[in-house]
Order: sequence, then C-alpha cells, then structure tokens
Amino acid sequence: MKLTDAQREQVESLLSLMTLDEKIGQMNQESPSIVGGFDVPFSELIEMLTDGRLPQKEFEKIMATAKQDFHEDDIRAGLVGSVMGNDPRKANELQKIAVEETRLGIPLIIGFDVIHGLRSVYPIAIAEAGSFDDALFEETARMAARESRACGVCWNFAPMIDVARDARWGRVSEGPGEDPCLASRFARAKIRGLQNDRSSTENYVAACTKHYVAYGACEGGRDYNTTSMAVSQLYNVYLPAFRAAVEEGAATAMASFNDLNGVPCTVNEYTLRDILKGEFGLEGFVVSDANAIKECVIHGIAENDAGAGIQAAKAGMDMDMGTHIYRDHLRKAVEEGKVPPAVIDEAVRRILSVKVWLGLFERPYVPEEVIEAYEKGLPPAHVALARRAAEESVVLLKNEGGVLPLKKDAKISLVGTLAGSADEVCGAWAMGWKKEDCVSILDGLNKAGGNVAYYPCGGPEGELNAAEIESACAEGDVIVAVVGETVSMTGEASSKANISLPGRQRELLQRLLASGKPVVTVLMNGRPLALQWEAEHLPVLVEAWHLGIQMGNALAAVLYGVVNPGAKLASSFPAVSGQCPVYYNHPSTGRPAGKSKFTSKYLDAPWEPVFPFGYGLSYTSFAYSGLRVEEQPAYLDISVTVKNTGARRGTEVAQLYMRDVAASLVRPVKECKDYARFELDPGEEKTVRFTLQKRDMGFYNNDAAYVLEPGAFVIYVGGNSRDVLEQEIEIRSFS
Ligand code: NOJ
Repeated sequence: MKLTDAQREQVESLLSLMTLDEKIGQMNQESPSIVGGFDVPFSELIEMLTDGRLPQKEFEKIMATAKQDFHEDDIRAGLVGSVMGNDPRKANELQKIAVEETRLGIPLIIGFDVIHGLRSVYPIAIAEAGSFDDALFEETARMAARESRACGVCWNFAPMIDVARDARWGRVSEGPGEDPCLASRFARAKIRGLQNDRSSTENYVAACTKHYVAYGACEGGRDYNTTSMAVSQLYNVYLPAFRAAVEEGAATAMASFNDLNGVPCTVNEYTLRDILKGEFGLEGFVVSDANAIKECVIHGIAENDAGAGIQAAKAGMDMDMGTHIYRDHLRKAVEEGKVPPAVIDEAVRRILSVKVWLGLFERPYVPEEVIEAYEKGLPPAHVALARRAAEESVVLLKNEGGVLPLKKDAKISLVGTLAGSADEVCGAWAMGWKKEDCVSILDGLNKAGGNVAYYPCGGPEGELNAAEIESACAEGDVIVAVVGETVSMTGEASSKANISLPGRQRELLQRLLASGKPVVTVLMNGRPLALQWEAEHLPVLVEAWHLGIQMGNALAAVLYGVVNPGAKLASSFPAVSGQCPVYYNHPSTGRPAGKSKFTSKYLDAPWEPVFPFGYGLSYTSFAYSGLRVEEQPAYLDISVTVKNTGARRGTEVAQLYMRDVAASLVRPVKECKDYARFELDPGEEKTVRFTLQKRDMGFYNNDAAYVLEPGAFVIYVGGNSRDVLEQEIEIRSFS
C-alpha cells in the first residue's frame, strides 16, 4: 500500500478537521447485533451453541431469520469507522449514511472473512499451499478480491499466515502449514492477488494479515492458548511470513488472541509498535481480533475494560473489533492524560490512509450492475479457477498396485457420508457459498460418467450401517471410501486431543478391506490426521482436504486419471496424536532419534511422521540425480537433474533445503529455502536450477539481529523433505 502525496494531504486535511469523538469513532468496528425474535435470550442461545445443546446448523438457521441491528444511528453520529458484512445492498445503505449524513462524510471500511474465496470457494489454505504454485495463490486471491468488492467488502480478513506445527489445533486448516519459506511465499502471493490489480476499485481490497503473531504456536494445540518462545524462534519461524506480507504492501494486520511470553498480542507494544510498524514498516492499521481487547481483562493483564483499552491503544492497536471499549472509554482516557492525543491521531491517520487508498471517497458504493451480475451466478472463469485450484491441491499419498487411476467402466461402490454431501466440500471459514454451486464427490463422479452406486455406510459421526456396508462390498468392482472430518470439526475453536480418524471410520475401512475388493481411500479433512494404521493397511490413500465448490469434479478428474495429481503436503502427518507437534524443520537435538533408547523419541510411537512435509506422489515417477552446488561470490548456484521415469506427463515440485552444520544457535535439521514446480513428459528430463543468495542463509539470534555465519552447510534437493540428494559446502565468506 503506497499513498501518493495528494492522498497523504487528503488524509492530513481530514484529520485536522476531526473532533476527538469523530476520531475515536473511526477506531470502532461494529458487526450487526442480533436483537431478538427468539424464544430464549440471545446470550442463552450462544451458551447453548457453546456447550453443544444447539448444533451449529440449527444455530445458523435461527440466525438467518433473526432481527439484526446494523447500528445506523451510531454510524450517523460518526461513532463507527468500520462494519462487518457481505451484503452489498446493506453495504450501500450503511455507506450512504456514513457518506451523506455524517459531518465529514468519511466512508466505512467494510470487512469480512474471505479466507479461501467468497462465493467461488477454493481449497482451504493448507490444501492450496500444497500446490506449491505461487501463481495459483495469487490468482485465487484476485478472484476473491473481485467477488468481495461485488458484495461491498473492501477489506478481507486474509491471508491467514500462521505457521502451525501442531495438527491438534483446528486452525491449521486456515493457514499455509509448517514451513516459514512456503508461508512467506504464500503470504506474498496472496497480498499481490488481493491488492495489486488497481485497474479499477472493483478489483482490489485491503488485505489483513493475521493472526499477528505466533498464534499457531498455541501450547498443546489448544485454541486461544498461551505461547512462549525465544526471540530467535519468533523471528525465524513465526515472523517471516508477516515480514514478507508487509514488504509486499499488506495494508492491515489483525492481532492474535494469544499472549506471547506473557503479553497478549492485543496489547503487545513490542510486537505491534516495535516490530510490525517500526521494523517492518506497516503503513496501514492494526485491528484487534473479535472481543480481544475485552479479553485482556480475563487474561488478567488489565483490571477493567478502560484499562484494557488504554493498554491496547498505547501498544498500537488502531481499531477495536466489536467490544465498544474504545468508543466508551478512550475519550476519558485522553482527557485524563492516560492516552496521548498523538496515539489517537496515529491510529486514525492509518485508518484513513487505507480508506483513501481503497478509493472509497470516490467510489463508496457497489454499482447496481455489479451486484446484479454477481447475483446472476458465478462467471465460468471463476468456476474454472476453483476447479483448477482443487485439482492442483489433491495429494496422492499411496497407490499400491496402481489401483489408480480408475477405469471408466469400473463399477464403483462409493462409501461414506462425506462423499454425498455438498455441504461439506467448502471447509472451515467459507461464508459466501451457495449450495447450488457445490459439487459433492458423488455428483462429481456421476458427472464424469462414472458407474457409481452410493452406499453412505457411515461417517465421522454416528453409527455404521451394516446392510449398506455389505451391499457396497458385494456390488462394486472397486470401493471408493471417503472418510475424514466434517467441516465443524476443523477451523476456529476446533482443537482436538485425538486426531485419528473420528468416529467409527477406521472400523468401516477394516470391514471394506475384509471384502478383498480393491479399496481406494479418499481423505476429506481440515488438518493432518494421525494415520499410522491407515498408511500401513490401506493400499491407496488420496488426501483431498476440503477442496471448495468444485471438489467433486476435481476429485473425479484425479481418480479417473484425467488429471495427474501433483500436490505435496504443506504439513507433516503424524503417526499418532501424541507425536504432535511433529514437523520436518525441528531444531537439532544432542540426541537425535535413533535405535538407541537414550535418544529423543517415544517408546511407543515412531519418531518420524507417516508422511513428511513436501511429500506427494504422482501417476508417474520422478528421479533426481546429479546435484551440483557451485559457490559464486553472492550466491550458490545449485542444479539437479529431474527425470520423468514413468509413463505419463506429470507435475513435480522440486524442493531445496539447507542445513547450517554448526552455528552460534541450534539450527533446524533442515530448512526449505526454495521450490520449483514444473511438468515433464514421459522420459523427459530437466535441469532444475536454484539460486540461493548467501544473504538468505543466515538466521536471527536472540537479540533479533540477523547473522550470517561462515562454515559448513549441507544443501539438499528432492521431491519431499525426507528423500533428498545432498552435498556439503564450506562457505568461507558472506561478504
Ligand atoms: C475471529 C477469528 O479469530 C478471526 O480470524 C476472524 O477474522 C474474526 N473473528 C472476525 O470474524
């Protein structure tokens, strides 16, 4: 986000006209409040949802009919700077009040959670990241930006770029996985896609990188939980994606719920002011997460709401999401000298800058023709992109005996409640999809002309149906079993202590296997699952995640071999839940896991994940040879030959890793530095070249200083983080 001089002047001149109340109003975000029409009070409804008495779907149904308060009077009084929502006509209505009925006519910035698409939902982030396709990351974000604007949303609470290494955390689904390099490339591409097509105001939105920071390190994988880490780990693992996003021009950021080393990120001056705004240079503003300022009282870091508001404002929290603490307490705090007026001015300057940059003063409304076009249905190009993204995100984990691709005339027994449900394809944090656009796996196989009979048999929840299992086993030539997690088992507030296949699905698979028929197992889930038994006993495993509206079509194309899968895992898959956190780039220990008892491992579980980061097969095979590493003054010139040794064209992702053999701090056993995605014809070979800049071979120490230390390094290249070629090189000088 860069403002012109004229835009900066516009911001300053507005600021000079504003009263303190108007300024504080800009720092207040509202979401529509529910105002009744139910048999029980709304607070009771929320409790019922939280304690499980009311299923999520029932709650949503009730909400859809609820009366809502959009805070029109507060907007009119200049007390609101931002609202949440995705209804374009409501957006225009509220915007009209802000623009025409307030003293200074400052438009609202309307934000919404558009995490992996709005109406054109594409794969959840952990799946899309596995495509290792930066151009795709960017294109899908561009599509999301356009659809957002058509719905009056000019501020997307995305990308979510929390590095996460503990699959028990439900929110691993929303982010790009366990690796800082992939997360940073993902972040950059998403920012470009959301923000850079400025050919018209209808084409770009302000991105909001979240959740800042280290939320993915929540202790025990339990959502909202505490985080604690050395400065070096913060800088080397959790900050790089945010640094990259800001370098790419990210307009805003959202602080995370967790405390970091004892200070909630909502009131953390060190992470907000010193690092994000100071060191990284964020130009736009920071918003709290929902209710987070108030939660600082529950954290026990503030005595009351007013105190929490004062701490947040002083720490550099520019906008309050939903608590009204700024609205209700900041004026007094300023008058009593507890918050300097300059703090308020800085926050408002940042908020106005984003509004100006978004073009909201010139074009505050969604044109009626844009709304109508959107309502007519999805543009074919969006459907095609959602499909391509889904196809590119399917990971083939195992294909013993070459059961896949399926023959078109094979009689398929399709099994699993997830396979027949169009409601489950979009995954967590998908809020704008319409059922008519969603293709279930059953529909996809049928549309592809498959010979399919469907036997639900059972799923993540509930009992198994013995009669259906018997028929499925008796009738098909091949059984395609779809197992995994429902959407509600993943995402926010969905941490799990046990991440093996939920319910009786393993038993279902055992019964299917007992038939002696070939069984293809398709996983449909939002987190890495603990798959020790599955990896050992199932001949064919396909990781299909929650792939979005085109899930069924994409999966059918992969199963029938129209598309050759080429995605890799963005996260390691544990053998058992107790192995979490398990990730490839862990720091070296003095006693690396090995056969000896006195090494770093468990007595009752393997020490390696079942499938490592970067892993994924294809219907063809690739061979790596001839790794060469040549030192140039400023970089390493690395090349390797990759050959397609199978019988069909396929996509491969070659991955470059590095190890700093001896350094002043313990370094990871391996760290990804680059990757390249390409296609090869059968028999074709290619020299893949990586340029590893020497300046990128360093790390941050515990003084937050970036250091480059000469010595031995090992360079690895391979098709996943485990199976690699390697070569050692001595770097004598970094200058
Ligand atoms: C809570 C979530 O943590 C965050 O990701 C989301 O953007 C906000 N609520 C707004 O819905």
